[in-house]
Amino acid sequence: MLHEGPSAPRLIVRQLAKRYPNGRVALKGVDLTVRDGELVVILGSNGSGKSTLLRSIVRLIEPTEGQVLIDGCAVAGLDGEGLRRVRMACGMIFQHANLVGRRNVLANVATGALGRHRTFATAIGLLPRSELAAADGFLQEVGLVEFAQQRAGTLSGGQQQRVAIARALAQRPRLLLADEPVASLDPESAREIMALLRRLATEDGLAVLTVLHQPDLALAYADRVIGLKDGEVVFDGGPDAISAAMVDMLYQRHAA
Ligand SMILES: Nc1ncnc2c1ncn2[C@@H]1O[C@H](COP(=O)(O)OP(=O)(O)OP(=O)(O)O)[C@@H](O)[C@H]1O
Ligand SMILES: [Mg+2]
Repeated sequence: MLHEGPSAPRLIVRQLAKRYPNGRVALKGVDLTVRDGELVVILGSNGSGKSTLLRSIVRLIEPTEGQVLIDGCAVAGLDGEGLRRVRMACGMIFQHANLVGRRNVLANVATGALGRHRTFATAIGLLPRSELAAADGFLQEVGLVEFAQQRAGTLSGGQQQRVAIARALAQRPRLLLADEPVASLDPESAREIMALLRRLATEDGLAVLTVLHQPDLALAYADRVIGLKDGEVVFDGGPDAISAAMVDMLYQRHAA
């Protein structure tokens, strides 16, 4: 299914700010949007606020000021149940896949669906058969169906990351938030993961927001790049519009 044409952004961030209790200001007035079908990459040096931004979107960190709207719904006002639902709609992917190594790949993927079923059976980790079939489909989507019965801990780093993406898909998210999903992967595996995220955006219409430390991958795969420096957006535009000087500026240290 191809998604075209303008739609209301799936994610809107307005004037988001975060000051940590120790006084450190990690985000200052951040604005951004991500639409369905769009792959947006955040670039910025260590400490520029990228993880704080991603975590603030789903209130894993409580922002100090500003607004986050997901599907037009203000995340700040949500109670426990509402927040749980919004988090289910946001698949999160991190640098480390964090799979249960001794369980098989299919079971790991299926755990992504647990939050959507609130029954005694799921509370003890049992899922309806339909979810296992769906998990198989997500494994197919990430190209790992032949590994379904293998213990997750025996997979390579790149394969584990693909399982983590399949697990996120099992939540049936409309928005994927990924924090350095390719940081521990070799260049070829990194490209595979980026191609997968690209395909999830283009073909399945997911809104994808990912932090990367590789400007070349951003330029190759992103619809838009957001440059974050000292907690502020200093660039937001297409990969064609980002100059070498801008990349240098993003990673440049403060003058001594
Ligand atoms: N819990 C915390 N308490 C105080 N300061 C924090 C906390 N977490 C992060 N910071 C600070 O906030 C700033 C942004 O951190 P953040 O982890 O968001 O950066 P980042 O862009 O993700 O960096 P990296 O590329 O190293 O992952 C840094 O100066 C960091 O030291
Ligand atoms: Mg980080």
